Amino acid sequence: MAEEKRKRILSGIQPTGAPTLGNYIGAVRNWALLQNDYDCLYMVADLHALTVRQAPAELRRRTREMAALLLAAGIDPTHHVMFVQSHVPAHCELSWVLACNTQFGELSRMTQFKDKSAKHPDNVNGGLFTYPVLMAADILVYNADLVPVGQDQTQHLEIARDIATRFNGIYGDTFVLPEGYISASGAKIMSLAEPAKKMSKSDTNANGFVLMTDDKDTILRKFKRAVTDSDEVVRFDREAKPGVSNLMVIYSTFTGKTMADIEAEFAGKGYGDFKLAVAEATADALAPVKDEYARILADKSYVDGVLKEGAARAARLADRTVAKVYRKVGLLQLER
Ligand code: TYM
Repeated sequence: MAEEKRKRILSGIQPTGAPTLGNYIGAVRNWALLQNDYDCLYMVADLHALTVRQAPAELRRRTREMAALLLAAGIDPTHHVMFVQSHVPAHCELSWVLACNTQFGELSRMTQFKDKSAKHPDNVNGGLFTYPVLMAADILVYNADLVPVGQDQTQHLEIARDIATRFNGIYGDTFVLPEGYISASGAKIMSLAEPAKKMSKSDTNANGFVLMTDDKDTILRKFKRAVTDSDEVVRFDREAKPGVSNLMVIYSTFTGKTMADIEAEFAGKGYGDFKLAVAEATADALAPVKDEYARILADKSYVDGVLKEGAARAARLADRTVAKVYRKVGLLQLER
């Protein structure tokens, strides 16, 4: 019997700084886990990073670092495809056609656009506005079935589906409609310092985030300072106890324990013991990634070799979609 064709996954991460525990739990850790069941394409989204002004040398360095970190986190570039977005021109080519099929109104409603323009009022550029169109192109150019992301990307995924549906309606069946894959609890890891806010590497308060590359002492210190509440009871309640609940999600991710297990484990104990346990579980989980990262990054030619091979494999898939789309919308194609 022929083996059933495996579903395809595409996801991306921007190289805009060292990734946080939020990126790890919300995305990268799942990317590694999903490799057993899907054909995966994982990408460093360097073009998306340009929507905020970047120091060129730093962006270049961080792009390679992010690739090394993905490899360290367990992305397997022999059975799957790992590449840098700008190395596959088809993303931009498709993005233009999709932009011509996307409405100003729908892009104006994107909350990330509104948030980012408020944060960088001196640089509300066209790229920031059309960011979701490029993201739709990233996904649709591979006809991805599934897109693993954190909660903050769900609106972008919705618009990718809307664009695909519209295009298919006008030009005939072209794109697969992608589904989001959002892990139940870790979809939104909150800041340790302000648990009402998403954990983010661009936070000005460094106590709010743990980086995937932080050492054990730093991790212990940041969790020790994590904001909780005053009732000293470890209980899961996102509304009433956001700080404690966020720590429980992190602990649950790394230990596999349920919320009920965790409540029982820390019944009658203070937050000090609990925070220490969360910090140790996190440090233990990140330690091998951190060590691998240092080892892999030292071998620049290995990382670049993976990216070169990845770009070639990705381009073979993506170019086919662009050719099909160009034909469908009526762009003249000459015989080769
Ligand atoms: P980026 O680089 O902001 O984040 C990468 C992934 O990490 C998730 N994430 C979180 N998850 C849980 N808790 C948090 N605190 C947290 N912070 C970040 C994000 O949801 C994301 O999944 N636009 C994307 C990159 C991208 C992309 C794509 C993703 C470009 N093209 C195509 C999927 C498909 C972004 O800026 O992610």
